[in-house]
Amino acid sequence: MIDFQDRVAVITGAGGGLGRSHALLLASRGAAVVVNDLGGDMSGEGASQTAAQSVVDEITAAGGAAVAEYSSVATPDGGEAIVQKAIDEFGRIDILINNAGILRDKSFGKLEWDDLHSVLEVHLRGAFYVTKPAFAFMKEAGYGRIVMTSSASGVLGNFGQSNYGAAKMGLVGFMNVLKLEGAKYDIKVNTIAPTAHTRMTTELLGPLADKLQPEQVSPAVAYLASEACQLTGEIWSVGGGAVSRMFVGLTDGYFKADEAMTIEDVEANIEAIRDDEGYIVPFSIQDELAKLGPKLAG
Ligand code: NAI
Repeated sequence: MIDFQDRVAVITGAGGGLGRSHALLLASRGAAVVVNDLGGDMSGEGASQTAAQSVVDEITAAGGAAVAEYSSVATPDGGEAIVQKAIDEFGRIDILINNAGILRDKSFGKLEWDDLHSVLEVHLRGAFYVTKPAFAFMKEAGYGRIVMTSSASGVLGNFGQSNYGAAKMGLVGFMNVLKLEGAKYDIKVNTIAPTAHTRMTTELLGPLADKLQPEQVSPAVAYLASEACQLTGEIWSVGGGAVSRMFVGLTDGYFKADEAMTIEDVEANIEAIRDDEGYIVPFSIQDELAKLGPKLAG
């Protein structure tokens, strides 16, 4: 059985929705949890301590260990305070789940700069602000598990979410670098693209909502947060009882060695460029270069 005895987890935005569900599951398996939540509304306005505190109350009532933390992830000081809370209360941080999020949906033409800045600030920069101090501790300790919360809206795209989609795909880029920088310290960094009925998706999911509970997402997150997880750099689509891997593939493509490539060559070889027969899933730039190397060598 996978457990989190002696492990300390920080979960941002854990006062409701997916974060609450992750917190309850990890705590039920022995993790001490810092339940962070600013407690504002879905667009990021306002603040309240009620959300985080009520999740802590649920955990402690069930015999678990948890403490509430109310900072916004959207400032460097907030990020420091959140991680410091784990160290002050429980002596360490082993697990970070970057989950806090807001929405400011608008079609691109109507997007105001403030809609861009606030969404990037919470989702993308916020993940940097919390991960920086957490990563430093984990490096020193030689152990860490970090889970980013991306979205199909970024990995695949969704109308009216240019700000959110860009922030969410930014987290994938962030993960891809941390998976390399964390490798020798046993820091595994993975990403989920969840689907669940929360206040964020009530309107979007319609009649499917009842079949998409946050509790169906948390087991995959808990696995990625566990010592058992030896994977790093993965993106998992999780929801409604399904867990799948999403990935960036590289097709075998078109190659022209001897003469200069023309624009017309590209046009004439669109099919080969796009043919997904024989694609690879590169882990790093080295894998991409390793594929090109033999072709260049002839
Ligand atoms: P939610 O609105 O219930 O949870 C987000 C939590 O983050 C809220 O409790 C909110 O108070 C907190 N939060 C917002 N700004 C914060 C800040 N600056 N500092 C600290 N806490 C803050 O929504 P849900 O669905 O549980 O979202 C969790 C994460 O999952 C988000 O990152 C969201 O973008 C992502 N997601 C959710 C999907 C879904 O189907 N529910 C789909 C794809 C991604």
